[in-house]
Amino acid sequence: MSIRARTRSALSRAAIRSQQRSEGPPRTTRSELVEWARAHLPDRKLVVVSNREPYSHVHQGDRIHTIRNAGGLTVALDAVMQALGGVWVAHGSGDADRAVVDAHDRVACPPDRPRYSLRRLWLTHEDHARYYSGFANSALWPLCHVVYVRPRFHLADWESYREVNRRFASAVLEEVEDRPALIFIQDYHLALAARFIKERRPDLQVAMFWHIPWPNPEVFRVLPWKEEVLEGMLANDVVGFHIRRHAMNFLDTVAETLEARVDLERFAVDRAGKRTWVQPFAISVDAEEIAALAEAAETRRTEADIRERLGLEGCKIGLGVDRLDYTKGIPERFEALERMFEKHPEWQGRFAFIQIGVPSRIELREYRNVQVRVRRWAETINDRFPRTAGPTVHLIEANLDFRELVPYYRMADLCTVTSLHDGMNLVAKEYLAASPDLEGALVLSPFTGAARELERAWIASPYDQEGLADAYHAALSADPDARRERMAALRETVLRRNIFDWMLDVLDTIVGMNLRTPTQEPAAASPATEGGQPSWSAPDESRR
Ligand code: F6P
Repeated sequence: MSIRARTRSALSRAAIRSQQRSEGPPRTTRSELVEWARAHLPDRKLVVVSNREPYSHVHQGDRIHTIRNAGGLTVALDAVMQALGGVWVAHGSGDADRAVVDAHDRVACPPDRPRYSLRRLWLTHEDHARYYSGFANSALWPLCHVVYVRPRFHLADWESYREVNRRFASAVLEEVEDRPALIFIQDYHLALAARFIKERRPDLQVAMFWHIPWPNPEVFRVLPWKEEVLEGMLANDVVGFHIRRHAMNFLDTVAETLEARVDLERFAVDRAGKRTWVQPFAISVDAEEIAALAEAAETRRTEADIRERLGLEGCKIGLGVDRLDYTKGIPERFEALERMFEKHPEWQGRFAFIQIGVPSRIELREYRNVQVRVRRWAETINDRFPRTAGPTVHLIEANLDFRELVPYYRMADLCTVTSLHDGMNLVAKEYLAASPDLEGALVLSPFTGAARELERAWIASPYDQEGLADAYHAALSADPDARRERMAALRETVLRRNIFDWMLDVLDTIVGMNLRTPTQEPAAASPATEGGQPSWSAPDESRR
């Protein structure tokens, strides 16, 4: 490209960027969310509940080190909790977690700049093996993702799951004490928690978010404890899914499994005098924070270091960031890359691929198999298509903080998300937020929730090797202006709806639907409503 063309293109990128910043559509800011909560939840404590904790403490030599867990859910909710304050109840999984908690098993988070309280709950090895690796990840996970890994159902796993859910509920109730509260439960690990909470405190507002897909009733009906799981979930006032299709599958499943009135007009279930609203809310990322990190000089420096270290000068770069999970379609993506090199040999030596693979659930055989297959694929491609400056595939098996991912996102000419099935997939959104120069391309599986919003991506099925290989080639060789225009549109979608919009929608729905839900009897007097003092307060904004 001539100097003139390069200057023109840089100016056009700068113009789009400044337009996205200044004239972009209004979105919820962190402080607007705080204002909203002050106005609408003045008297309620916010309690978030999840299996995975946002921060873990681990021993490193004779020191204790803090890790910010990189999972999409925890990163996204950490931003919200930092804004709103409250309590987060989660499993304490770090080997130094017990060493840093107070007498009530609480630790302030984030540890270097406390904004909320993390209440840790302890599990034995057996609990973990049965509740987490067993029922949650060997039964519900494959059942809901429908990727031809057979779910395994064991009574002992189910009993442990029920027991651990009961313990999560007890920890929540201890944190709430006798005050009013809004409880927000996360994901498939905790399908029964609302039931145990409501048994003791029916006055509390309880919502849960199911972050993975919900299958159709035909698939779900094989679960031996399907009634109990559904009843547990219907104890919530609101159940959220990322996309409408999963909410509809859930309603169909309830209709086929339980005696209940399913309202497909309003997306609600009435059962035993209780209404549960079932609604879609697409989660997103803290796009502004990621964009700011991407623009930082430090990120540029790290990017240059990585290029040099991995021998990537002068070649196009592809990127995949995933937990090493069989639902993510990582072998499928390598197969398609191999096919692209075969069909378009001009990319040999001129294209390198970085796969960041976060080790995950390694105690399960299926996950160890994925790890082995991914390593083999990296070797195969490196043997078949060598490069002089370094390997063609760099497999980085590490649990990187999302801040460490930003330089990788920024330098990638192509980011690929090839999930066989995924509730949302936040990698796609993080990549877009971290690409302010619009120099990149997103190749996205149609089987992600994200594909419903990110329609201008190169959509290609991981089950179609030829189609995926063609999408890689098309994305890499697209006309630069046309590609930038697509990136600008995609990025705007992410900037338009961030994690604070998601949280505001969820909270607003809980509050609003509570007003609309008919009650059969006056609410039972509870200690919470008898002269309870307002307990909700956001952390002091001036400390930010
Ligand atoms: O995709 C579901 C999910 O719970 C995510 O929300 C989260 O990022 C991921 O799984 C983490 O899984 P785990 O806690 O088992 O590492």
